[in-house]
Amino acid sequence: MTEKSTPEKDEAAKADTASIEMRSYAARLWLSISKNALLLGLFALICTGLIATTFIGTEDEIAMQQRAARLKALLEIVPTDRHNNDMLQDNIEIFENALGHREPQPLFLARNDGKPVALIYPATARDGYSGDIRYIVGINLADNTVAGVRVLKHRETPGLGDGIEVRKSNWVKSFNGKSLGQPSIEQWSVKKDGGVFDGFTGATITPRALAKSVAQTLQHHQQNGAGYLKRLIEQAHNLQSNTAVKKASN
Ligand SMILES: Cc1cc2nc3c(=O)[nH]c(=O)nc-3n(C[C@H](O)[C@H](O)[C@H](O)COP(=O)(O)O)c2cc1C
Repeated sequence: MTEKSTPEKDEAAKADTASIEMRSYAARLWLSISKNALLLGLFALICTGLIATTFIGTEDEIAMQQRAARLKALLEIVPTDRHNNDMLQDNIEIFENALGHREPQPLFLARNDGKPVALIYPATARDGYSGDIRYIVGINLADNTVAGVRVLKHRETPGLGDGIEVRKSNWVKSFNGKSLGQPSIEQWSVKKDGGVFDGFTGATITPRALAKSVAQTLQHHQQNGAGYLKRLIEQAHNLQSNTAVKKASN
């Protein structure tokens, strides 16, 4: 015998069905969210793995390229007819606010038959149009003149400020042979500011920043060059002594 349906019973049955459907929908939704979250997590993990592998794989090559670029710049500043040491080995780390450093940088020494010829300073002009301009400047120890300047890294605008790169223009070569006093410190700027260095057409900020920074590096050398040279000579001496001791004990 079937139970007689009443409006109340019908309502209760409808409510039951709705509740079951709701729970089933919630379960499906939860499953779908979990599945998608898992997939997303997996995707992120795979991407991170791929980026890490690529980075590790290219890290050595990047370091090698940077080393080669630095050596090329060093050799342009102090060519092999002026020195015969391995400049990349003959260096000390310096970290100087006055030189615009944001991290320790190597200061190189060029020697000819052991005799110091030039110090090659790493420096950063922080006020380029687009921020930091990293460069090296060689200073001849015989007369404290600039042996050469080479820009290693910058973000200046192509076609406007990038004339500081030697492959774009010879502008940086205008520092060669200059020193503190030749010209006077006031004239270590672009012609527009009463200085001796040409600006670039419509782009004075970049050359102004570099000229000012090179002058500051020369001033830093005037005050600290002798101390750095002493450290470099002591370091080479200690290295030689250690090598001699090792050879003797073998
Ligand atoms: C998009 C853009 C990029 C610029 N890039 C440089 C730059 O790399 N170096 C620079 O000195 N000036 C750059 N300038 C120009 C400077 O705004 C500024 O006008 C100039 O350096 C001042 O030089 P002037 O005194 O010869 O006019 C740039 C301007 C614009 C609009």
